[in-house]
Amino acid sequence: MAVKKPAKKAKKAIPSPKSNPVVEVVEEAIRNANEFETRLERHIGELRWLFFELYENMALEAREESFSELLQRMRAAYDRRRDGLKEMDRKREANPGWYKDNKLLGMCLYVKPFAGNLKGVQNALDYIQESNVNYLHFMPLLDTVDGRSDGGYAVADFRKVKPELGTMQDLAELTADCHKRGISCCMDFVMNHTSEDHEWAKRARAGEKEYQDYYFFYDNWDIPNEYEKYVPQVFPTTAPGNFTWLEDCQKIVLTSFYPYQWDLNYWNPKVFIEMADNMMFLSNEGMDVIRIDAVPYIWKQLGTDCRNLPQVHTIVRMCRMICEVVCPGTILLGEVVMAPEKLAPYFGTVDKPECHMLYNATTMCTMWSTVATRDTRLLRHQMDAVNNLPKEYTFLNYVRCHDDIGWGLDYPWLAWNFGQQEVPHKKYLNDFFTNKIPSYARGELYNDDPRLGDARLCGTTASLVGIEAAEYEHDQHKLELATDFDLMLHAFLLGQTGLPILYAGDEIGQLNDYGYHNDPLKWDDSRYIHRGNFKWDEVDLRHDVHTRQGKIYQGLLKLENIRKSNPIFGPESDMWTFWAGHESLLGLKRKLSEQILTAVYNFSESPQHVSLEAYGPHIDLLTGEKLDIVGDWELAPYGFLWILYNPQ
Ligand code: GLC
Repeated sequence: MAVKKPAKKAKKAIPSPKSNPVVEVVEEAIRNANEFETRLERHIGELRWLFFELYENMALEAREESFSELLQRMRAAYDRRRDGLKEMDRKREANPGWYKDNKLLGMCLYVKPFAGNLKGVQNALDYIQESNVNYLHFMPLLDTVDGRSDGGYAVADFRKVKPELGTMQDLAELTADCHKRGISCCMDFVMNHTSEDHEWAKRARAGEKEYQDYYFFYDNWDIPNEYEKYVPQVFPTTAPGNFTWLEDCQKIVLTSFYPYQWDLNYWNPKVFIEMADNMMFLSNEGMDVIRIDAVPYIWKQLGTDCRNLPQVHTIVRMCRMICEVVCPGTILLGEVVMAPEKLAPYFGTVDKPECHMLYNATTMCTMWSTVATRDTRLLRHQMDAVNNLPKEYTFLNYVRCHDDIGWGLDYPWLAWNFGQQEVPHKKYLNDFFTNKIPSYARGELYNDDPRLGDARLCGTTASLVGIEAAEYEHDQHKLELATDFDLMLHAFLLGQTGLPILYAGDEIGQLNDYGYHNDPLKWDDSRYIHRGNFKWDEVDLRHDVHTRQGKIYQGLLKLENIRKSNPIFGPESDMWTFWAGHESLLGLKRKLSEQILTAVYNFSESPQHVSLEAYGPHIDLLTGEKLDIVGDWELAPYGFLWILYNPQ
């Protein structure tokens, strides 16, 4: 027999101290007063262990001193953190998966070409919200020197906005306005290097040994030459080699990227502490997401390729713990453009997580390869690999971003299954996208390395799928096809699990900007072809579906609305691929309890027949039509379908 619980009555009779508002306030105050300590206690053992291990070459006393310096910086950053952000921290500690929500849609933009300056971006927030966007990645906006800036990735001051874009105050106002509107903010934390114009670099150059030790300085080429034997080049054409000779101080400095980007020396604990402090500073400026730029490169060790070394993971893990103590509302987004097997370790383990989210560069480039080959088998293989990963792994998905498309495809798989070799395959892709093999695409090569038969690719989505060519030829039929293609690729993006990010301008199908060819500061970097000024005059056409801008803009809104209002697109769904009847069709299913979404994407310019024998209550998400039987479908060229089985 069940025993009745008297608890409820008792509770009413003797009011719990919690129901006393004064006690509640006091309790809350005590809890907050100890918040830092409580969080630190959770992590200090491991943090200390990793720090001491990483700097094992230092004397114990010096290590103790450095570690306590780190703790002091953390405490100070916590104390400086605004109340509003601390409240956000607490909310997110209670909802740690907030960034996985299918209601989130991101956009990344460069402040200057998008809206002139930070105030301009703030004035454009209505448009951003109208576009369904509630996550903004502001591309690098910190101080940098034009002509030696690598699109802002050569930071001269981590605590100062580039003056032409505004001030730190403007940034704080922008993030505050974003937060009020429910928009999360992301910024890059360029942690591998500083600009040669950074104060540390200037002092190093002036001969101060202390600052030379922030970088890798050499008196002669002996060690640099040893490094060069093992370390590949990032920019083989635009910045060959990994070292730069500094004529004025007669030294050689390690520069993996451009010669004006000096690699930081994380063997030096001061560098780690200063950079961790800069990371906390960014978070305190209101960043919900910190994009750790080029993170695989941060640890250098002679005799290795200086990529993905174990110490990199130690540092990322320490960054994660530092955030969890000081600013747990902020998450880490890793920019790891590496082969899939190198990627997963950056998530860390369940007990010792590293990044919260990673770029899904492989799916992105495999999708573009599929565009050129019209053969979805490699993409299916890639989606199988992603679908087999634990659900805790969250990816940031995208069609285009500010960088080139590097062909990081699974070449061993292509070779094994189809005897397809890397060099001729890349050549085909690049020839196709640059219209060398006659095609609709209008791309440009990036860092063509004839030695290795390697080159990457640049161009906006719209120009790569044929919109530019169709408009140039005034060919309405081709234009229709190309805009359908553009929408299909975005549907594929939105159909994946993770955070979808639009590249600003793609929502109106913005074309390549060739102006950079004549710009003395940009001409040698073809990535500027897709970093053109945002076309505000074209935005006005977004309501007219008879224009390319309107068709894409309205088409995207519709897909985004479907995504955000159907939990099947959320992080808990299972996902798998299926054979949809033709090599140019990609079939994907998602399942959440009883519901099943069937998605099919046609990567060819021909119509395709799809046979889906399914019974029971379905809904065509694209038209809203209810169906009891799902039978044969004619998918239009570059068409797609999203059909939901929903028994309730
Ligand atoms: C990242 C950025 C890229 C930049 C590089 C060097 O890969 O995405 O644009 O050139 O880092 O900082």
